Amino acid sequence: MLKLITDGVDAFGIEPDYEKAKKALASLKDGSCKGNDFLGWLKLPEYINSEEYERVKATGKRIYDNADALVVIGIGGSYLGARAALEFLCSQRFNETDRPGPKVYFLGNGINAADTLQVLKLVEGKRFYVNVISKSGTTLEPAVAFRIFKKYLEDSCGKEVAATRIVATTDAKKGALKGLADAEGYETFIVPDNVGGRYSVLTAVGLLPLAAAGIDTDAILRGAAIASEYCLADSDANPALKYAAYRQAVYNAGKKIEVLSCPSESVRYFAEWWKQLYGESDGKDGKGIFPASCVYTADLHSMGQYIQEGERILFETGLSFEKTDAILGVPLTEDNADGLNYLAGKDLGAIYNAARDGVKKAHIDGGVPCLELRAERQDEVSLGELIFFFEAACGISAIMSGVNPFNQPGVEAYKSNMFALLGKP
Ligand code: PA5
Repeated sequence: MLKLITDGVDAFGIEPDYEKAKKALASLKDGSCKGNDFLGWLKLPEYINSEEYERVKATGKRIYDNADALVVIGIGGSYLGARAALEFLCSQRFNETDRPGPKVYFLGNGINAADTLQVLKLVEGKRFYVNVISKSGTTLEPAVAFRIFKKYLEDSCGKEVAATRIVATTDAKKGALKGLADAEGYETFIVPDNVGGRYSVLTAVGLLPLAAAGIDTDAILRGAAIASEYCLADSDANPALKYAAYRQAVYNAGKKIEVLSCPSESVRYFAEWWKQLYGESDGKDGKGIFPASCVYTADLHSMGQYIQEGERILFETGLSFEKTDAILGVPLTEDNADGLNYLAGKDLGAIYNAARDGVKKAHIDGGVPCLELRAERQDEVSLGELIFFFEAACGISAIMSGVNPFNQPGVEAYKSNMFALLGKP
């Protein structure tokens, strides 16, 4: 079970409103909350028993066995979860290690010619597959990238073969991508109507690219199922309830920015996923905590100064893992030229933990309330737990502040301006 440690907020005399959090959770569970047509994610741990999931695994295996490379095209909720999970489990160097299975390239998460040309070059002459993911099927960035890769694939191996190498994950009935996939005979997977983009990582949206990369998706779903038991419980020991209640309490005490601090580069993209989840869910009606993130200890040398002494509008949630199989001690040297012999034999993990605890104390002394979230290991089961935990807490927290956690009306503003400038008919 994930552990939420709250002494670094309690020290400020800030008290969470558990009763309000429990009411918010009850309204999620009985479906009486705002945005209640988007509560399908509550049941996603059960996806493990679905026929669609069997197909996800079979197609994932087909790609794993046959592809040199997989290009995953999507943006926002149709992108961040898979990338976050892959980096969390295989590190940010997932394409450089001796991990078996295809190289995985993410594209369509922006509009950039150099980036697109680079991926085209990387897949040149390779047997590559494409998984295009768009719930609406009409989002400009992935649609443009897909048009380019579809043409490239068809030009290099012919339309018929290309159709067997393209898999579309989209709405069951509507959208341009659905129409195109049906017309071209692509295999398709569904983004359920009642699951929003940022809550969709435990559907084919996240699980198909992960299965194709050889990840144990069963274990991720098992982790999510474990977390769904305790994160939906009407109990003071429920860490999701606690996290939501503490977030709202520190926000009400004037802390408008939450920094999710992570223990390594491999968790940086998980924080990106978290930022989308909380930013799009919380930030509306002129309110909401701004989600930011740091990787420690790297960002202590860039953002550390601000966190320690800048405007006192921050609070911090520190994520860490209790166990690891990666053990590496500091070597002893005869001359001790760098003066580090006092650390000889000490594991890097133990040194990190000293840094983490020292940072927490410094930040509390500097007026930054600190929560700590501890998972057991950086593995598939903990990942599934963290995903469900953060989703549940996000729903509870947003309901507590009175907004609809599951819509994102503000995202349309830039789109209509951009389409007008581009002369969309
Ligand atoms: O959370 C969301 O709904 C958004 O971030 C979407 O996932 C993102 O805009 C991509 O949309 P679509 O999957 O429709 O292309």
